[in-house]
Amino acid sequence: MNVAPGVKPIIWDETYGVLKMLDQRKLPREEVWVEGKTAEDIYNAIKEMIVRGAPLLGIVGVFGLVLAITDLEASSSYTPEKFLEIAQKLKSARPTAVNLAKEIDRALEDLPLGDAMPFEIRTLLIERARKLLKRQQEEDMAIARHGLEIFQSMDDIRIMTICNTGALATGGIGTALGVIRAIYWAGKKMHVYPLETRPFLQGARLTAYELKKEGIPFSLIADGASAITMKEKRVRAIIVGADRIARNGDTANKIGTFMLATVAHSMGIPFFVAAPVSTFDFDTVTGEDIPIEERAKEEVMLCGGCPITPEDIDVYNPVFDVTPHHLITGIITELGTIWHPNEEAIREFFSRHSDVDIE
Ligand code: MRU
Repeated sequence: MNVAPGVKPIIWDETYGVLKMLDQRKLPREEVWVEGKTAEDIYNAIKEMIVRGAPLLGIVGVFGLVLAITDLEASSSYTPEKFLEIAQKLKSARPTAVNLAKEIDRALEDLPLGDAMPFEIRTLLIERARKLLKRQQEEDMAIARHGLEIFQSMDDIRIMTICNTGALATGGIGTALGVIRAIYWAGKKMHVYPLETRPFLQGARLTAYELKKEGIPFSLIADGASAITMKEKRVRAIIVGADRIARNGDTANKIGTFMLATVAHSMGIPFFVAAPVSTFDFDTVTGEDIPIEERAKEEVMLCGGCPITPEDIDVYNPVFDVTPHHLITGIITELGTIWHPNEEAIREFFSRHSDVDIE
């Protein structure tokens, strides 16, 4: 598969011990790099969505731990308890995307917190964060390959997608956008319809930025234009990412995904989720148990910093929704595609991969 350079959302600067983050709030108009020098900087960068996207949040969370231990070492105040307190805070920055809490918890489980010097823990964490980024890049490629298999026999492929699931969201080639890239690299005639994705506009700002940079043909649509676009443009498939997939296949993703899945189902259009296995949360039984992040009302009341509504109104701003598994045609993972996902199909799929423990 031809690998295009894509965009890098983060760079670890070992010389200065700083995480450089491309400020995704400012794209596409400005490419501004923000420096994360402390764990607090990383917490704020995650909360304010300077960095975003479930897989990337997992990686940035571990870099947050690197900076936490650096802070504690520098002030000679390291204790495992203080370190764990900062880790809890980092985990709380975004509640729906499971990768953030999961990768932090996994790192904590493996660290010799009481038995090692802070500089040793720091070295282990840097190595871990780097490996995580590399693993994500490999998983993105594998997801793209499995996704391409589904579309191999088709041509003139019109695909709809939502939010940004590209390089900016994973540090690799992306998940849903990785599959789209693979179809394009395979030389197929294709056209992408990304939703603008109100209110944060990840589709209009970030997906359009990545698609344009790479020359992939697309037409941006307003979120409300999705049904007519599916019908008039004969959309062949919807491919979206995921922030958390429950044990039974119910999938939390960017607000509007459930709407897309419902419309696609009513029109008989296949609806795919593309996500790494790390986005499965086997401790969450169904979508009902997934915490849904609500964000500030200003995100809806302002557009590009300008007020667009009357002042002092009430706003409901859930930024994710849950698509029930019966609306999902397949979940494309790095291990292959889980067709018609439900608890049994998922269990059966992972039973064939002994290294994935779903209990
Ligand atoms: O709020 P965001 O921008 O972090 O939401 C991102 C999404 O919903 C993505 O679809 C998901 O994280 C998958 S990214 C590969």
